[in-house]
Amino acid sequence: MGNQVMPREQLGICAEGNLHSVYLMFNAIDGVEEQLRPSIANVAQYIYELTDQYADSAFNGFVGIGANFWDTFYPQARPALLKPFPAMNEGNRDAPAMEYDIFVHIRCDRYDILHLVANEINQMFEDLVELVDEERGFRFMDSRDLTGFVDGTENPKGRHRQQVALVGNEDPEFTSGSYVHVQKYKHNLSKWHRLPLKKQEDIYGRTKVDDIEYESEDKPLTSHTKRVNLKDDQGKSLEILRQSMPYGSVKEQGLVFISVCSTPEHFEKMLRSMVHGDAHGNHDHLMLFTKALTGSSFFVPSLDFLTQFDD
Ligand code: HEM
Repeated sequence: MGNQVMPREQLGICAEGNLHSVYLMFNAIDGVEEQLRPSIANVAQYIYELTDQYADSAFNGFVGIGANFWDTFYPQARPALLKPFPAMNEGNRDAPAMEYDIFVHIRCDRYDILHLVANEINQMFEDLVELVDEERGFRFMDSRDLTGFVDGTENPKGRHRQQVALVGNEDPEFTSGSYVHVQKYKHNLSKWHRLPLKKQEDIYGRTKVDDIEYESEDKPLTSHTKRVNLKDDQGKSLEILRQSMPYGSVKEQGLVFISVCSTPEHFEKMLRSMVHGDAHGNHDHLMLFTKALTGSSFFVPSLDFLTQFDD
């Protein structure tokens, strides 16, 4: 390997988990692309600099561009595999699409800093965008989903996170970028809590309190981990990096599921396996207790790609 300089990735893609998050979904006002390109570059640069400034609180984040907005925004080149969210439905398992033009994802271990930065970013966009959705995520107990199970245990670790999450040299203009899918899941917790412990554990294929994986042969074919643990033709595991966090209030709560990956195909195959199941119709029973309200597809380019357009 030579000393090739890699474009700088946006640091929120591979960052380790945090205590708090803010998700801002924007749509662009028609015809403002010329002014918006430098604004987006400035916001991404600002997030990058704050990562150093607030390193003690593990600040990080990224800015993504919606699949349907990409061509309007950067007409000269498109990430090779970028496509809209793969909406799907079977029975009462629904994975609807809800696309947004811009996704700002910021996380930190201090809520006050996040609140301040979210407001600042909103101002940096001036009147060029409309804020159409906002959600705030939080760490629940020891990184558990609100169903009470630890979420993220089997995520890639260390430098393997970069290998899984970032585009390599296969698409040179977009090296160090990432394909991102977001789904806001609303849980039916009263239904879930009526389920005996063993049945809950069977749905994940893991134990609840101590988070131990079942032996493969003990996992029901309808368990979540069985449905999403997929291999390619060569027997290699299909991986994604999950950056999900619980969100919500007493009235509505669940998981903001976020997949970041060097390809959109792994997420799509996993979702298909959850919703449509295997050849025998074994679908993911977790979906009996949670409902996807949104589904969005973004590309998060490298910082260097975005800052080509900063004036
Ligand atoms: C594993 C929760 C949706 C992909 C897990 C685990 C939990 C969990 C608790 C086990 C611990 C771990 O390894 O992290 C949830 C919840 C979801 C959700 C509450 C939605 C409400 C999804 C979706 C996908 C996905 C939509 C992909 C399309 C995965 C993968 C694993 C996993 C790849 C690791 C499986 C393994 O290697 O054992 N999830 N998940 N999850 N989930 Fe999900």
